Amino acid sequence: MAARLEVNQLTKIYEGRVARKALDHLHFTVEEGEFVGVMGPSGSGKTTLLNVIATIDEPTAGIIRLNGKDPHSLNKEEMALFRRRELGFVFQQFNLLDTLTVEENVALPLLLDSVNAKETNRRVQAVLQKLGIADCSQQFPYELSGGQMQRTAIARAIIHRPSLLLADEPTGNLDSKSAGDVMALLRDMNEQDRSTLLMVTHDAVAASYCSRVIFVRDGKFYNEIYRGDSRQRFFQSIIDMMSLLGGDARDLSGVRL
Ligand SMILES: Nc1ncnc2c1ncn2[C@@H]1O[C@H](COP(=O)(O)OP(=O)(O)O)[C@@H](O)[C@H]1O
Ligand SMILES: [Mg+2]
Repeated sequence: MAARLEVNQLTKIYEGRVARKALDHLHFTVEEGEFVGVMGPSGSGKTTLLNVIATIDEPTAGIIRLNGKDPHSLNKEEMALFRRRELGFVFQQFNLLDTLTVEENVALPLLLDSVNAKETNRRVQAVLQKLGIADCSQQFPYELSGGQMQRTAIARAIIHRPSLLLADEPTGNLDSKSAGDVMALLRDMNEQDRSTLLMVTHDAVAASYCSRVIFVRDGKFYNEIYRGDSRQRFFQSIIDMMSLLGGDARDLSGVRL
């Protein structure tokens, strides 16, 4: 199952003593089954964008459409169902529950959706296998390495086969080997299940696994690059665009060759 995502003139202003325009008429479309990266300097609105798509945050103006439907127009119950069934979200800080084992964390979306125990167990074991963390199924988050936590967070985000997977810097806390593994996994998932993926990243190597990268600056669409047939050339174009885009030094901290 895949989703088509339209982000239409999306604007988000955080009111406060000083109002902040986090998104400014941001406009782009992600086709069904695409794997799109989002890059931009810190503070350019990337996390806000994911939160608004996920209905965690409300837009100030503009509209999101998922398969033609605005998730923000749903009532409370429908919105809960949308989050639970259509959406997978890999958070920057994992958001694993400390008192639950890996297996229990991953099972959570199915439990919330009243899938029966046998089916839950079957699917949890399958996804743990696929992600190479079956051996830690009984461990608690504090017993895991960064890479294992990240895989657990991904397992939980994909267990219910979401039509749209959102990921906020899924390789941000990983060494380059684990980062490569996680990216290969997301790419395979995107190719095999044709799920639509939108991934925020600072890492040009991670971005080079995408089929397209969208660059944002100050909450606005800045540019986009399609992959073409050479990942190496794509990587180089991403690096070039990042230096054009400017921003803080951290933007290049993720570069690994
Ligand atoms: N909850 C919030 N309240 C007020 N301002 C916020 C909030 N979340 C983000 N911002 C501001 O919105 C802008 C975009 O933030 P964010 O989406 O986190 O950027 P990025 O993920 O690209 O680093 C920043 O100026 C940030 O300070
Ligand atoms: Mg962010």
